[in-house]
Amino acid sequence: MTFQIDSGIDLAGQEVGAVNSADTVAKSDKVNRDDRKTVGEINHPDPRMTCRDVNVWYGDKHAIIDVNLDIGKNEVIAMIGPSGCGKSTFLRCLNRMNDTIDGCRVTGEMMMDGNNIYGKGMDVVLLRAQVGMVFQKPNPFPKSIFENVAYGPRIHGLAANKTDIEEIVVTSLQRAGLWDEVKDYLEEPGTGLSGGQQQRLCIARAIAVNPEVVLMDEPCSALDPIATAKIEELIDELREHYTIAIVTHSMQQAARVSQRTAYFHLGDLIEVGSTDQVFTNPKHQLTEDYITGRFG
Ligand SMILES: Nc1ncnc2c1ncn2[C@@H]1O[C@H](COP(=O)(O)OP(=O)(O)OP(=O)(O)O)[C@@H](O)[C@H]1O
Ligand SMILES: [Mg+2]
Repeated sequence: MTFQIDSGIDLAGQEVGAVNSADTVAKSDKVNRDDRKTVGEINHPDPRMTCRDVNVWYGDKHAIIDVNLDIGKNEVIAMIGPSGCGKSTFLRCLNRMNDTIDGCRVTGEMMMDGNNIYGKGMDVVLLRAQVGMVFQKPNPFPKSIFENVAYGPRIHGLAANKTDIEEIVVTSLQRAGLWDEVKDYLEEPGTGLSGGQQQRLCIARAIAVNPEVVLMDEPCSALDPIATAKIEELIDELREHYTIAIVTHSMQQAARVSQRTAYFHLGDLIEVGSTDQVFTNPKHQLTEDYITGRFG
C-alpha cells in the first residue's frame, strides 16, 4: 500500500474523520468483543506513561473501553480514528483534564514514571504542568507575549528572580520556533499574533514549565499549510526533550511526525504499532478500512 503525503485527505480522496459518530456508536453494541482486542505492541521498552485497563464513561456512555497502552520516552505517538472514537477523551485522561467534566468517570491505572496519576497523593496542578496540553484552537491568555510564557514558571516557582524568568521565556520561545518573530514585540498582546504564531506561543507556554509530556489535540486543524509545516517541524525537534502524544485527523500528519500510531474505533484501541507498519501493513481489518478510506 502506498501512502501519499497530502493534507487532510485520505487515499480514497475522502475527508478523514467525517464518519457520523452517532450511527457508528449505535452499532457498537452488536460487536463481538473478541474482534476488538488490541493488536500490536502496547508496551514500550522505555515507557514514560503506562495505561492499563482504562475505561471512561460520560454518564452511561462508555467512551473508552479497556485500553492498555504505554507511551514511550522521547517518542511522538499519534492517536487516530474516526470522529467520536475517544481520541480526545483518552488524551485528556493523561493529565486528568476529564476531572473538569461533569459526569465523566475514569477507571483503571495510569502511571507516570511509576506514580499513579489518579492516586490520592497526586497534585493535579503539578501533573498538568508535567503533562502539558495544546488544544485545537490556540488559546493564548489575554496578556502580553512575555506574560503568556512567564505565567506558568512564576506560579510554579520555577524561577528565583527576573533574570531567571527572562531566560525561561527566551528559551521557551526559541524552542517553540517563535523567538525571531516576536523578540521585538514581547509586550504586545499574545492574541494579536497570527493563528500559527499563537499556536507556537501556546506550545512555548506549555514547555516553559518543563513538562515531561506534551499532549496535542489536533494542534494544526485551525492552521494553514505553512503554519502546519512549522508546527510539524517543531514537534520533531521537541521530541528530543519531551514525549508527545498528538491527536490528528490527518493521516499524512501522523505519518510525518510520529514514530508510533494508535488507532481507536468506537472507544476501543484497535491497533498500535510503528507508524510505518500501521500505515503500510495494518494488522486489523478496521485499521485497514480506515486508512484506505473504506471505513464502515
Ligand atoms: N463532555 C462530554 N459529555 C458527554 N459525552 C461526551 C463528552 N465528550 C465526549 N463525549 C462522547 O464520548 C465519545 C468520544 O468523544 P471524543 O471527543 O473523545 O472523540 P474524538 O475521537 O476526540 O472525536 P473528534 O475526532 O470528533 O474530536 C463520543 O461519543 C462523544 O460524544
Ligand atoms: Mg477530539
